[in-house]
Amino acid sequence: MTTILGIETSCDETAAAVVDDGRTVRSNVVASQIDLHRQYGGVFPEVASRQHVLAILPVVEQALHEANTGWPDLSAIAVTRGPGLAGSLLVGVNAAKGMAWARDLPLIGVNHLEGHIYSNWIEAEGNSAVKRFPLLVLIVSGGHTELIVMVNHGRYERLGGTIDDAAGEAFDKVARLLGLGYPGGPALQSAAVRGNPTAYRFPRAWLPGSHDFSFSGLKTAVLRAVQQIEGGKATDSRRLTAGENLPPEAVFDMAASFQIAVIDVLVEKSIRAAESVGATEICVCGGVSANALLRKTVYERSHLPVSIPPLYLCTDNAAMIGAAGHHHVHEVNGTELAMDVVANLSLT
Ligand code: KG4
Ligand code: ZN
Repeated sequence: MTTILGIETSCDETAAAVVDDGRTVRSNVVASQIDLHRQYGGVFPEVASRQHVLAILPVVEQALHEANTGWPDLSAIAVTRGPGLAGSLLVGVNAAKGMAWARDLPLIGVNHLEGHIYSNWIEAEGNSAVKRFPLLVLIVSGGHTELIVMVNHGRYERLGGTIDDAAGEAFDKVARLLGLGYPGGPALQSAAVRGNPTAYRFPRAWLPGSHDFSFSGLKTAVLRAVQQIEGGKATDSRRLTAGENLPPEAVFDMAASFQIAVIDVLVEKSIRAAESVGATEICVCGGVSANALLRKTVYERSHLPVSIPPLYLCTDNAAMIGAAGHHHVHEVNGTELAMDVVANLSLT
């Protein structure tokens, strides 16, 4: 039995959690910085690291308190060491090193993407209880869109991924283009509910013969549609105030048409990939897997069993880091206090 304190600070969430055996969440505390970054329309790295410094200790204390756990009850501390924003990762890793040293606990460095994968292992509604390898994993987050075959615990083969924008990044950029605010993914989903998904015929980049994705052409198609309505004015997806002259119906229709274009490709390519590798199940994870239409569409179209964690485990959290840490406890060899962060850490 393991009881692991997970710590996650790779982007704009300061999070700590206590997890038993990689499956049972005893506490899961997330301090979000969304309100701080809203004025910038995205995560401001310097502001994020400073906020992590302020939040990390109270968040860890709260996680231990809510789990009714003391330091002596812990088997190890698991912390995200990459990928992510270097300054943000440093706060979590250094705090974890200090705690591990002071409390004489093993320290485990976890890949954030592996954390997302292990969110599928946590006992929760939507997650399958028993898994048989190989699994097809679709990771869809703000920074990544990856199709992975998981052949065993800790063993991953990359089939493909995005060649330009990540799916979450595309949601965020298009939301900004349509004047829907921050954070873009949830805002776009809400607007899409009120629109007609067949109103605009936005392109789907199938990239035949590969398991890769591309969303930049779709993003440009939305930009062109906006420009057409706004009379050709130079609108740019990086502007914060875009879309202010668009009629609400057009915004809703474009949001709905964009959303289904992303989801069509994600779901169809995941199903094809799962078939091509003989996967027993499709596991979806990462912030975009909180999207209601994506969840519904995977369940509807896949003949294979599907596992998607509940919403609170899709976006960044530390329970998934504690869960992933459980599968690496046996690898701890005492050199971990020398660990460094790796901003572009890869899974394979
Ligand atoms: O996994 P995550 O919390 O952070 C990263 O590791 O990047 O994912 C954040 C991404 C953001 O791009 C956000 O807009 C997107 O997930 N997201 C959504 C939804 N909720 C979050 N995208 C579409 N629909 C949602 N409901
Ligand atoms: Zn993430």
